[in-house]
Amino acid sequence: MSSSAHHHPAIGIDFGTTNSSVALAHPNGRVELVAFPTASATTHSFRSVLYLEQLKQAGRTSTKSFTGPSAIQHYLDADPKGRLIQSLKSYLPSRTLTGTEVFGRRYTIEDLISRILSDLRAHAELQLQQPIHHATVGRPVRFVGSDSPEDDAFAVTRLHAALTHAGFTEVKFEMEPIAAAYAYAYESTLTHDELILIGDFGGGTSDFSLLHVGPNSRPTERILGNSGLGLAGDAFDARIVRKLVSPALGSESFERSYSQAPDRPANLIPAAPAWIYRNLERWHYLSFLKTRNVAEILKSARARAEDPDQIAALISLIEDDLGYQLHQAVQRLKIDLSHNDSARFTFPQLRISGSMEIERTVTRADFESWIAEELTSIETCVDSLLQTTGIAPEKVDRVFLTGGTSFVPAVRRIFESRFPTRVVTGNEFTSVAQGLALRALAAN
Ligand SMILES: Nc1ncnc2c1ncn2[C@@H]1O[C@H](COP(=O)(O)OP(=O)(O)OP(=O)(O)O)[C@@H](O)[C@H]1O
Ligand SMILES: [Mg+2]
Repeated sequence: MSSSAHHHPAIGIDFGTTNSSVALAHPNGRVELVAFPTASATTHSFRSVLYLEQLKQAGRTSTKSFTGPSAIQHYLDADPKGRLIQSLKSYLPSRTLTGTEVFGRRYTIEDLISRILSDLRAHAELQLQQPIHHATVGRPVRFVGSDSPEDDAFAVTRLHAALTHAGFTEVKFEMEPIAAAYAYAYESTLTHDELILIGDFGGGTSDFSLLHVGPNSRPTERILGNSGLGLAGDAFDARIVRKLVSPALGSESFERSYSQAPDRPANLIPAAPAWIYRNLERWHYLSFLKTRNVAEILKSARARAEDPDQIAALISLIEDDLGYQLHQAVQRLKIDLSHNDSARFTFPQLRISGSMEIERTVTRADFESWIAEELTSIETCVDSLLQTTGIAPEKVDRVFLTGGTSFVPAVRRIFESRFPTRVVTGNEFTSVAQGLALRALAAN
């Protein structure tokens, strides 16, 4: 690290499914995070979303794009609404999903992602007051939806193309769990070699890796074992919708019974079709329900329902395009339950009529029973990683949990019961970017 004059700034970029972050490691080892302004505050995590809007000016139409917090803001303010695109990272390994059409023009996934990366670069340049064209960028060991190492390699090639398009001329990739290990090693001063298990729980994926971290504060490059699941925080949100929101909107309500004969069984026909409720579970699908066909279905469902107020509330949810607000309300509840034994679900934006009720107190125990299946999948995945690598739980010196979903107490408990007193957590949203920057510095 002697002739640092011609070294490029050590930049780490974590492009996540839900959130992204950028860090710079100064030559003295101090790590600085890039801050992003939002309407209400400044944060170190940038929502990985893109919003495309069509503008009509002087008889000409053009398309304008916004990213991160400004994408959300423009989306909320717009009427009619343009296209809000999220979870772009999860499309990278797909050979069939190469792009999407917006306002009659085709965009490749690389093009769409590059707009987010380009804005991340611009924010970093502004704060760090220097041009940035080099970066160490994270990649998951296994991408969501990837079936083979070839798919992963394909995803990395596309991510690389997006980075090039966004103005990065030199890019190095590093495994996200190795980056998290760098961040862990940096925070703790190690005196001997440790075998650590990294658990990264994000929005789309959960990822587990076993690796050694040496006393030189650097992980060895070898991952002893890795496994992952294509489920994390988004799946928990979907459960809250299914167990709490959809029932209040009539998913368990039936048609009024017209049975005349007393010996005839009650008429148990669901008032509204189940597929409509499935679309509520992923908030960005909600806008697909704003069609005349769905409006007709719900209008007649309401006329026949035992509880028409519930269907009426569902109709206004769709008419008012409240998918984003619904998702916010669900996430608020989930996050409150990470810190409290019970929390209140509220959804003030929803127009409700008559006796309809959607506000409700939920206990952490309720929530944990709703996500029981997901928790079991995580447990199975961790246990099978230990089994296939032949490593006994006692041999693991430390477990480092990171990612937003590692805040969920039931997720932490999975590790606390298997590795008592050895679980550490921290920098849930930024550890990967910090570790990537430290990795870039080590390579300088
Ligand atoms: N306090 C909290 N309690 C529970 N969940 C939380 C909390 N804060 C954030 N989350 C959840 O964490 C998830 C986002 O985590 P993170 O930013 O680490 O994901 P990501 O890196 O973008 O995704 P991925 O790693 O899947 O690419 C979301 O599902 C969010 O709801
Ligand atoms: Mg992540």
